[in-house]
Amino acid sequence: MSLNREQMLIEMGISPIWELRGVPSEAVRQPAEQLEAIAEPADPPPLPTPPASGCDVGSLDWPALEEGIRACRRCPLGQQRRQAVPGIGDRRPDWLFIGEGPGAEEDQRGEPFVGQAGKLLDAMLAAISLERGQGVYIANAVKCRPPNNRTPEAAEMAACSPWLERQIELLKPRVIVLLGKAAVHSVLGGDRALASLRGRAHEYRGIPVAVTYHPAYLLRNLPDKAKAWEDLLFARRLLAEGKR
Ligand code: URA
Repeated sequence: MSLNREQMLIEMGISPIWELRGVPSEAVRQPAEQLEAIAEPADPPPLPTPPASGCDVGSLDWPALEEGIRACRRCPLGQQRRQAVPGIGDRRPDWLFIGEGPGAEEDQRGEPFVGQAGKLLDAMLAAISLERGQGVYIANAVKCRPPNNRTPEAAEMAACSPWLERQIELLKPRVIVLLGKAAVHSVLGGDRALASLRGRAHEYRGIPVAVTYHPAYLLRNLPDKAKAWEDLLFARRLLAEGKR
């Protein structure tokens, strides 16, 4: 008997897929910007600009890398953040998920994906039997919050990329999942539409890479969650096919 996708998801106990527990469905349907605006703190006063660091990021160990990220003033985002958000999770992970940049709640708590989009990301992880911190590391293309949660600019992502590159070098994940366009452009470069990159195996320095939608986008476009589910299954296949 062949099952359609909805029947398959019901069989797997994840339908309706990725509903947030304890969050009224109307809240989930609000645009992510609105949800973030609710908890928007007042912007902190700008920090003084220390001299640019001349350190060789490519040789840093974890403590020095995180310290460097927290002290970074390589781009204007470093002036306006409350704190930098280096990333979190297992430092010998199979999976590396890369988002765009911290939002208001992440800026406040110093951890990536802790707001509404983060709750959805956790549900997405759970749908493929993953858990934050267990074989999973979560990072962002930029480590400091862009004002008003705007998309990071190309120059900001370029300024931040040595930090992300070093994280990837240290983490040596078996698969990378890029969440949304900014992460794609930061890691793979180019300016191609996300839709044209989904479902295809990409590569970053020998590591297989899959592309999917950003969870904040999925909160606004619920039907595309099914496509994101397919993308996660695709990423899991890439991981299974890869060797370490
Ligand atoms: N969106 C992101 O891309 N990253 C976060 O950490 C939070 C929201």
